Amino acid sequence: MLTKAIGQSHAKAILMGEHSVVYGEPAIAIPLLNINMVVSIIIRHDQQQIIKSRYYNGSLSDLAGAYEGVRQLIVFLLEKFNAQDLGFELTFNSQIPQERGMGSSAATSIAVIRAFYQLFEEPLNQTILLKMANIEESITHGSPSGIDTATSSSEDPIFFIKNKEVTPFKIDVPGYLVISDTGIMGQTGLAVSAVRRLFDEEPSKTRRLISNLGEAATAAKDALQTGDLVGLGQLMTKAHSHLRALGVSHPHLETLVKTAIDTNALGAKLTGSGIGGSIIALARNLTDAKHIAQALSEVGAQEYWISPLANQMNTEQLT
Ligand code: MEV
Repeated sequence: MLTKAIGQSHAKAILMGEHSVVYGEPAIAIPLLNINMVVSIIIRHDQQQIIKSRYYNGSLSDLAGAYEGVRQLIVFLLEKFNAQDLGFELTFNSQIPQERGMGSSAATSIAVIRAFYQLFEEPLNQTILLKMANIEESITHGSPSGIDTATSSSEDPIFFIKNKEVTPFKIDVPGYLVISDTGIMGQTGLAVSAVRRLFDEEPSKTRRLISNLGEAATAAKDALQTGDLVGLGQLMTKAHSHLRALGVSHPHLETLVKTAIDTNALGAKLTGSGIGGSIIALARNLTDAKHIAQALSEVGAQEYWISPLANQMNTEQLT
């Protein structure tokens, strides 16, 4: 066993297919390689188990509320490694805003699991990683599709079908994503339940919207592979209108999407669970992306990042 270890993971942006992915439709998501979560563990020589983050500084056993899933994940890992009495200090260093559709909780789980496996010098494969991350995600979000953890742990964009397929692929197209945060907490569990309720109340309408979103995700993959940025942007805006009809938009999201489109974005949509959270807008080039980001800030966006679609390592935070 080592005396210290580090686990890392990334923020994610769902390009197409949030919500419909829960119902088995395909989706595309992109890890944002420069917006990271880093978890470090240092062994302590007493039996204290200390957690430190921007929001919490205290013992593992007192971690509760929104962090109950994380607490249970850590307890599970300690039991798995037969180390229930181990003293440690676990520190979260996150660049990912919480509950903004950028996968903060998934990234937390992935980084925690990686850190513990490194500490105990155990090999970790992707299947085990995603299965364990689900311990936290199912407590925090209900019954997640798994797209957030799959993206957060990937270095490449993924094509994802729940319980069936996680295929990383390369994107070789120009174009930039502007990711922009309303500052309003999105709540994944709540948004997923709202769609489920709509399904119960209006099954045929909801089924149609979900299948439209799935078709748009498949078409978006083709657009990415043929370099059809204009087509991709149109699909994104269309997907946003389906998501709005599913009831997961919000007036601030609408303002941001409209502003992006009025400022020459090729398309824009909410990303993640919605109701609050973030949008993504597609820009033809960096100059357009900066104009869009500027316009979004003028209508109240809180934070924004610009990422080349194809090379996420150059993600630039503008606030
Ligand atoms: C949340 O990032 C994505 C949703 O589709 C929920 C899920 O896939 O579990 C809204």
